[in-house]
Amino acid sequence: MTIQWFPGHMTRARREIQEKLKLIDIAIELLDARVPLSSRNPMVDEILQGKPRLILLNKADLADARTTEQWRTYFADLGYASLAIDASTGNRVAEIPLKVKELLHEKIARQINKGMIPRAVRGLIVGIPNVGKSTLINRLAGRNIAATGDRPGVTKGQQWIKVGTEMELLDTPGILWPKFEDQLVGYKLAMTGAIREQVLNVEDVAFFAIKELAGRYWDALAERFGLTEPPRDLEDNNELVRVMEDIGRKRGCLMSGGRVDLEKASGIILRELRAGNLGRITLESP
Ligand code: G4P
Repeated sequence: MTIQWFPGHMTRARREIQEKLKLIDIAIELLDARVPLSSRNPMVDEILQGKPRLILLNKADLADARTTEQWRTYFADLGYASLAIDASTGNRVAEIPLKVKELLHEKIARQINKGMIPRAVRGLIVGIPNVGKSTLINRLAGRNIAATGDRPGVTKGQQWIKVGTEMELLDTPGILWPKFEDQLVGYKLAMTGAIREQVLNVEDVAFFAIKELAGRYWDALAERFGLTEPPRDLEDNNELVRVMEDIGRKRGCLMSGGRVDLEKASGIILRELRAGNLGRITLESP
């Protein structure tokens, strides 16, 4: 669900997360492995107030594996542990509780030293809309938790979900806003499907996608759509539109008079990109 973030929503989202922080030991920050920067809330460090944190690069199945590893190194250099996962298939999700325990081992050891039986560690999943928070919660819970409403303020009574015997998770995630004041970020999020076309024009988004892909992933684009002529100049808009038209022709998106239906072609480009049909694509490098 796409929401409009107004200042009031942001304040409320922030307050909600900060209330939840009082209940938990660790924040689990979910990012999209294809756009780890653009899918990051610009104020996340301030909002999480130094809580222990695990970063998850989700949708790693759609991202370039080598770049994902570079991102993990980048976050490690900043002092954050991370894992690359696919919440939808469950790939590497089982490592999350182990990693969380590892990150909290000092706290757990302190409890044991005081003669206490350590309770399950408590976590909160946070991230911008569409990054895979609900999918991950369901995956960790091993069942479907009722939809939580992807909007700050839409919460029900909070409950703890047991993840194995040693970890618990709040059933409602912390919903953060994206860095939407940056237009480039908006287009990247639209390309990956995090922002839907109601907000940005489909042809504009597909045009932006072609510009991004023609530079770094021309071979994948050419192979998927049977293209033979790369754009001569990536800064030449006419050349990029020509590539979109080539794709439209290949896919039979024609209108009367033989003109290419760019809107239809744009829909195809974005759908196939988001489904991973062009291969594993990452739009941001550290
Ligand atoms: P949110 O709670 O953070 O808003 O995100 P949500 O779990 O609703 O996930 C948003 C979309 O991302 C969903 O697709 C979901 O299936 C997909 N997704 C989540 N994790 C992964 C992953 O690791 N890999 C891939 N490829 N996709 C993932 P959708 O099209 O909105 O819904 P649906 O088609 O699954 O019904």
